[in-house]
Amino acid sequence: MAEKQDVVIIGAGAAGMMCAIEAAKRGRRVLVLDHAKAPGEKIRISGGGRCNFTNIDAGPKNFLSENPHFCKSALSRYGPQDFLALVERHGIAWHEKALGQLFCNHSAKDIVQMLLSEMKQAGAILRLETAISAVEKLSSGFRVTTSGGTIETASLVVASGGKSIPKMGATGLAYRLAEQFGLPVVETRPALVPLTLDPAQLERLGALAGVAADAEVRLGKAAFREAVLVTHRGLSGPAILQISSYWREGAEIVLRLMPDVDIAAALKAMRRTNGRQAPQTVLADMLPRRLAHFFAEEARVTGRMLADLSDRAIDALAASVQAWRLKPAGSEGYRTAEVTLGGVDTRKLDSRTMQARQVPGLYFVGECVDVTGWLGGYNFQWAWASGFVAGQAV
Ligand code: FDA
Repeated sequence: MAEKQDVVIIGAGAAGMMCAIEAAKRGRRVLVLDHAKAPGEKIRISGGGRCNFTNIDAGPKNFLSENPHFCKSALSRYGPQDFLALVERHGIAWHEKALGQLFCNHSAKDIVQMLLSEMKQAGAILRLETAISAVEKLSSGFRVTTSGGTIETASLVVASGGKSIPKMGATGLAYRLAEQFGLPVVETRPALVPLTLDPAQLERLGALAGVAADAEVRLGKAAFREAVLVTHRGLSGPAILQISSYWREGAEIVLRLMPDVDIAAALKAMRRTNGRQAPQTVLADMLPRRLAHFFAEEARVTGRMLADLSDRAIDALAASVQAWRLKPAGSEGYRTAEVTLGGVDTRKLDSRTMQARQVPGLYFVGECVDVTGWLGGYNFQWAWASGFVAGQAV
């Protein structure tokens, strides 16, 4: 005899646990299955171990999707303040960093514990180290075959996340299930990921590995102002991770280093008052020293005095720093990507419930759906919000 449940949730991550809490609070018999040894592993490692659990300003504008209006309904029904209230009810100390990002003061494990204790209190059951071998549609509900036996359920919630960090158990199961049930999947790609440079560019930039600078990074209409870091493989830092979600093979990104400073004006002013200075010395007052030398060498002005440089030469030098064009060769891929862009096509889901329109009882929540947040707590907010609305509907 198959075990019977009202709701089976595949994936004990952020979205799955939130959905379990809400469904169990409504009196549903809820079973959460996960193949991992521990629940919420991505929560545990997130935000450098402090979990950037939401962003106080999170709204639809902070998400990428082929169907940009889709996320509005869930985000409006469960916003950052709702999750914050839960965090506060559990006495978890938190602080706001720049740009509305909220972090735990102590440890990301506090968030995992909070979710587990809410699940327990509501009566949801968690079953770990359970592999899913098949999912079938019954005349009413679903049959889920697992390494621990067969379960029949009225509602099935797929909360198994994306493809990022396969070492942590990411499998892409959600996309296979979507296809099995005839739901299209928007092409997936690594996002919030460091970008790589080709060997020739790396040789030019080799001496810069480890240098970080404030920058505005732009690609088309998308622009992010945060730190950029040069690495041994290419470019990283928050501004690069942000733009990586918009980047496609062959595209150029434009970096404006030290965006608050008008470098051309500063160099020209210095030429009037102290023209004997070397351009790289003056640049080094505005930029990390290694970058200053790099740009002076690229512009072939090392060994010259500012007084020797024409307006045009100064403008060209400043433009190389403040309109630095780079063509990444690729990205570091799912190995280091924080999230997966694309996913289950939201045009086939009901935005109020996350239910597949053509398969009653089947729900997709969290990262596996084609809704991807910026860096800064937005992806967890989407996991909480989509899990919450599905939890009200299952
Ligand atoms: P999530 O991936 O959390 O959970 C999926 C669950 O399904 C996992 O427990 C997995 O084991 C299970 N599973 C997968 N395949 C399965 C299968 N075949 N059978 C059974 N179970 C299966 N976001 C943010 O907002 N703030 C932050 O600070 C960070 N920081 C961060 C750091 C790092 C290093 C990474 C990789 C990611 C982040 N993120 C983040 C992103 C955030 O972690 C991510 O968006 C959410 O965890 C997504 O939640 P989900 O519940 O959808 O999937």
